[in-house]
Amino acid sequence: MKKNSPVSRSGRFARDPGADAARFTESISFDQRLWQHDILGSLAHAAMLHKIGVLSKAEAGAITRGLDAIAREIKAGRFKWKPELEDVHMNIEAELTRRVPAGAKLHTARSRNDQVALDVRLWLRDEIILLLGEIADLQRALVSLGGKNADVLIPGYTHLQRAQPVYLAHHLLAYVEMLERDCERLWDCHSRVNVCPLGSGALAGSTLPLDRALVAKMLNFVDATGQVQLTQNSMDAVSDRDFAVEFCAAGALLAVHLSRLAEDLILWTSAEFNFIRIADAYTTGSSLMPQKKNPDIAELARGKSGRVIGNLVALLTLLKGLPMTYNRDLQEDKEPLFDTADTVRATTRLMAAMLQNITINRTACAVAANDPALLATDLADYLVRKGVPFRQAHHTVGAVVALTEALDKPLNLLTLKELRSVDKKFGSDAVDVFDLQRAMAKRNLTGAPGTTEVAKQLARWRKLLQA
Ligand code: ARG
Repeated sequence: MKKNSPVSRSGRFARDPGADAARFTESISFDQRLWQHDILGSLAHAAMLHKIGVLSKAEAGAITRGLDAIAREIKAGRFKWKPELEDVHMNIEAELTRRVPAGAKLHTARSRNDQVALDVRLWLRDEIILLLGEIADLQRALVSLGGKNADVLIPGYTHLQRAQPVYLAHHLLAYVEMLERDCERLWDCHSRVNVCPLGSGALAGSTLPLDRALVAKMLNFVDATGQVQLTQNSMDAVSDRDFAVEFCAAGALLAVHLSRLAEDLILWTSAEFNFIRIADAYTTGSSLMPQKKNPDIAELARGKSGRVIGNLVALLTLLKGLPMTYNRDLQEDKEPLFDTADTVRATTRLMAAMLQNITINRTACAVAANDPALLATDLADYLVRKGVPFRQAHHTVGAVVALTEALDKPLNLLTLKELRSVDKKFGSDAVDVFDLQRAMAKRNLTGAPGTTEVAKQLARWRKLLQA
C-alpha cells in the first residue's frame, strides 16, 4: 500500500486504485466545501467519545486541537487536499491522524455513510437560513419599489392582453406573496433537515454505547421547543436524501418565481411597454448594435431556472432505483444540491439588487393605465347595479365595445346617446365609470388592487419585513 492510499482500503486491498478509477470516484473536488461542517461533526463526535470513555481526556483534547489547526489551515487556503483520499471526510481524518495518533480513534462507531448525511444536513441547514435572508431582502426591494411608486397605475394583464387597472405595487406584491410561500416551504424543509443521523453507522448503528442525544444537542439539532431531533431508523438515516429533494423542489419553485418576475421586468423594459428603466450597472450592451441596452440579468435569472429544475429531476432520478441502504450513487447528490443552493441564492440576490436600481416611467404607465377599455368590466358592473343580470350586462358592454371599434372612438368618449343606442339602462352617470381614481377606490375587497387595500397590504408587508 502506498502512503497516500485511503484508510478505507487498508488491510483488505493489496493495491491502490487505478488512477482512472480514483479520478472517477473522487468527490473531494466538490465536497471540500463541506469541510467546516465535517469538522464540527467530528468535534462533537470526539467530545461524545470522550464522555463514554472511548477517548481519554488527553486524546480528546489532542483531537480537538488537531481539528482546530486543520480548520485554520483550510480557511487560510493552506491545506493540501489529496484527490487520492477520495473525499473531504477522509482527507481531514487522514491529516488529523498523521498529526495526532489519537485521530485513529475518531472514526469509532462512525461510518462515512452517517458522516456524510450529517455533513450535508449541517451544511444545508445553514444554507437555508442564508437563502431565507436573501429572499427577505428581495421582498423588501419589491415592497420598497411599490411603496415609492404607490400612486402608479398600470394595466393588469391576462393572456398578456390588457385586462383591468391595478396599482404597480399590487403587481409587485404578488411576487412578495409568492416569495413568502417559498420561505414557508424552506422553513418546513428545514425542520426535516434539522435531524441528526450520527450514530447510524454504516447502516446498523453500533454495538458501542454512543450518546446520540449528546451529539445532537452539541450540534443544535433541536426543534423550536428544545426537543432533540434524532433519526429513528439507522437504515433510513444513511440512505435518506428526501431533505435534499425537498430543498431542490423548494429551490426549483423559487427559481420559477424568480423567472416569472424576470419575465415581467424584461417585458416592462421593452419599448413596447416602457414601464421601467433598469440602471446601467444592471444592464448590458450589444456587441453589434450600439443603441441596445439589454436586461441580461433578468434573462439569466429566467434561464437559470432551467438548470435548477433539472437538478430536482436529477436528484429524483438518482434515488428512484436505489436499494437500501447507502449506495455510492448517493455521492452524486451533492453537485445538483450545491448548484441549486448557489444558483437560487445568487439569483435572488441579483434580482433584489436590480430592483433597487429600477426607475419607473410614470408617464408611460399612466398612458397605458388610462386606456378606458380597462374599465369595460366596471361598465358592466354599473349595469348590474341597475339590476341587469351580469350575463346580459356583459353582452351589452361587448356590444358597446364593438360600437367603439365601428366609430373608432375610445370607450369613455361615447356620448350618452351612443351608449343608449345599445341599451336604454345607461344613464347620464354612466361616464363617471371612467374616472380611474374613483374606479380604484371601489376595488376594496380583501386582496383587491384598490387604493386603500393596496396601501393596507404595503403597510402589512412593511411591518412583517421590517422594511
Ligand atoms: N464521498 C461519499 C459521498 O459523498 C462519502 C460516503 C462514502 N461511503 C462509502 N461507503 N463509500 O457519498
